[in-house]
Amino acid sequence: MGLGAAAGAVLVALVALGAAPAAGAELSGVFQELGTSECYFTNGTEKVRFVERYIYNREQYLMFDSDVGEYVGFNPYGEKNAKRLNSDPERMEYKRGLVDTYCRHNYRIVTPFSVERRVPPSVSISLVPSSSQPGPGRLLCSVLDFYPAPIQVRWFQGQQELSEHVVATDVVPNGDWTYQLLVLLETPPRRGLTYTCQVEHGSLEQPLSRHWEMPPDAARSKMLTGIGGFVLGSVFLALGLGFYLRKKSS
Ligand SMILES: *[C@@H]1O[C@H](CO)[C@@H](O)[C@H](O)[C@H]1NC(C)=O
Repeated sequence: MGLGAAAGAVLVALVALGAAPAAGAELSGVFQELGTSECYFTNGTEKVRFVERYIYNREQYLMFDSDVGEYVGFNPYGEKNAKRLNSDPERMEYKRGLVDTYCRHNYRIVTPFSVERRVPPSVSISLVPSSSQPGPGRLLCSVLDFYPAPIQVRWFQGQQELSEHVVATDVVPNGDWTYQLLVLLETPPRRGLTYTCQVEHGSLEQPLSRHWEMPPDAARSKMLTGIGGFVLGSVFLALGLGFYLRKKSS
């Protein structure tokens, strides 16, 4: 058979609206004829199945399935057409060839941006306030905008994996061919410990890690600022005094 693209009646939907309605006029009815072509791939292109469906007003009346090898009708109109189409050897040879000329042909074309599509996640840790429990809040690992869906996210406290007290959302599709996932640590973080969110994904050659530590608390950091200011002030005082005494003695 020639170019598979020629077989590309991918999806044809015809909506006949009686006559085009004049402005303000009511539609007399909506009639929909839908034709679809589907390709099912198992283990790459090792096993391929082609299915063509004919649907009128949501009712499928005719179907070609490459596993069956001929048309099957589901109502009297479909049966009539199945008989007519199946008795045309040239057409049937063409339809049976579509697993190669249409499905396998298009698989090669679309694979680089579908089957082989890899988008690495962006990973960040944030401290979210907990409304139900007191304390400093809870640690949330946001894993955003990755593809494909399979992913593994783990929390560590130091070197130790925290498998309990970890809750995750489902992997949520974003509607732009990416997914996202949030993983919450249910226990409050403790001062002096390092927390790590580790992500494994098909887009990453090695696991991606983000670390988090409790920032120094406000009182301690104010004291450190005060000590720093005192030291700096003392240095300037000493310098000033030095200049003053030198000037005075000269
Ligand atoms: C998948 O196909 C390859 C050839 O493309 C074959 O070697 C392999 O055994 C197949 N795997 C399975 C699970 O059928």
